[in-house]
Amino acid sequence: MRSKELTPQEIYLQQTLPSLEPYETQCRKAADSLNLGGISLAKSEAHFLRWCVQLSQADKALEIGTLTGLSGIYILDGLKPKGTLWTLEKNPQHMEKAKPLLQQFASERNKQVKPLLGDARETLAMAEAESPFDFIFIDGNKAAYLDYLIWSEKNLKSGGYLLADNVFLSGAVSELDFEHPFSKKQIHVMQEFNKRLLESPAWRACFVPTVEGFLLAQKN
Ligand SMILES: C[S@@+](CC[C@H](N)C(=O)[O-])C[C@H]1O[C@@H](n2cnc3c(N)ncnc32)[C@H](O)[C@@H]1O
Repeated sequence: MRSKELTPQEIYLQQTLPSLEPYETQCRKAADSLNLGGISLAKSEAHFLRWCVQLSQADKALEIGTLTGLSGIYILDGLKPKGTLWTLEKNPQHMEKAKPLLQQFASERNKQVKPLLGDARETLAMAEAESPFDFIFIDGNKAAYLDYLIWSEKNLKSGGYLLADNVFLSGAVSELDFEHPFSKKQIHVMQEFNKRLLESPAWRACFVPTVEGFLLAQKN
């Protein structure tokens, strides 16, 4: 959960970075209407996500955790012309708000979006038919990150990029004694997820120390 109190650095970024309007405001308003405004990517994180998609020269991207489409519009924007985003969301209310925005944005930019509603552990099995993907963004259920990683090891192309958000669990991965909403299982899963990406010979990975923590990795 991102803090509502912005630092001077964040205020500078808000003022300096261009937005994808009118869609960015519509995605954020839709998240606010669900009382979930604090869990979409910050603008600077969304810009970083788009840059990663561009860097990977992706035609085919997949994201886990659509919410109301904010990260999705940035992924679509970064894809190559005619590229496709598969976006996975468990909550029908979230998908109902995201789908029209993503579809309109995609059609204006000559890209395609394939929304998949359901628990990602099931919809990932459906998406497997489209593999290999060039780019994967993980921002779904924190207790399932290891499952998402194991799936990505099979379904991301060699040389493709994976970006994961919230890998610090607001600091809870440190196991220091302070109040936070994360369970022991979520902490353990995230520690194992980070370790596997950083230590496995299958990946080249690097933390991007944002407030919530990104982990960026390229598959060997
Ligand atoms: C942090 S939000 C995603 C934010 C979004 N990527 C953005 O920046 O706009 C996490 C989303 O993952 C969804 N989610 C949680 N568990 C899931 C699961 N098992 N399968 C698919 N989606 C899930 C939630 O409903 C929520 O919409």
